[in-house]
Amino acid sequence: MTYEFILFEKIQKVGVITLNRPQALNALCEGLIRELTAALDVCEADPDIHCMVLTGSEKAFAAGADIKEMQSKTYRESYMEDFISKWERIDRCRKPIIAAVSGFALGGGCEMAMMCDFIIASDTAKFGQPEVTIGTIPGSGGTQRLTRVVGKSKAMEMCLTGRMMDAEEAEQAGLVSRVVAVAELREEALKTAHKIASFSLPIVMMIKESIGAAFEMPLSEGVKFERRLFYSTFALDDQKEGMAAFLEKRPPVFKGK
Ligand code: CAA
Repeated sequence: MTYEFILFEKIQKVGVITLNRPQALNALCEGLIRELTAALDVCEADPDIHCMVLTGSEKAFAAGADIKEMQSKTYRESYMEDFISKWERIDRCRKPIIAAVSGFALGGGCEMAMMCDFIIASDTAKFGQPEVTIGTIPGSGGTQRLTRVVGKSKAMEMCLTGRMMDAEEAEQAGLVSRVVAVAELREEALKTAHKIASFSLPIVMMIKESIGAAFEMPLSEGVKFERRLFYSTFALDDQKEGMAAFLEKRPPVFKGK
């Protein structure tokens, strides 16, 4: 498949998707979402890809949903098409996906970064939910995910005023896992992805699934869910290999089995 709005590369065991619509600061038009979905389908189906990185340009990760495309939509059209549901492919990924954010991550761009498993930000990153300034509200989980991550007070202030959060504040608030120099963002994200990809794929997927459950379940159920997955790792060759390698003081050779 050829892509118009994204770049898609496979670097060893990592699928790297770069949003590439510079003239619109990577605004998330329908074509871009279609291509992103297709690339994620490829990554999920390819047994040699263990981890994904989603990134944008230095100036913008993504400046939100495409306002030109949305402006004239009627309520009926948007409700019947349910166009935002097409963005949920990221949320359905079972393999880990890292957002590497530089520049603007606004509206749907911030929401898309939050759908990823964690965010590595450049020191120039700016996060915000400016929908209030254009007469609408966040529509792809902004009021929900941002609130869970940064708490009520900051989420309220950001969504009610459209104020942007810089990288330093985002790190302090727990929105991003790490801030790196802008020139090092891609390399750092790739290094992190390669590290994850070096482990057993089913184990990595179970960790992702278990942390995801923390947002959906009460603590007592979440702990039980985790324990069942933990016991199930004993059915994998990789658990036997990982623990044997530790005891034999040698690096493990994981086979994903
Ligand atoms: N949709 C469509 N086009 C966009 C866009 C968007 N979200 N954001 C930027 N662009 C376009 C601009 O229209 C402009 O195009 P032209 O050159 O053809 O005029 C181009 O990208 C460059 O943008 P600016 O000239 O505005 O660049 P700037 O550096 O002066 O400002 C900015 C950058 C502050 C990010 C500004 O572009 C901006 O405020 N963008 C809109 C941000 C926004 O409101 N996002 C929320 C969208 S709604 C949403 O996402 C809903 C949801 O939750 C699902």
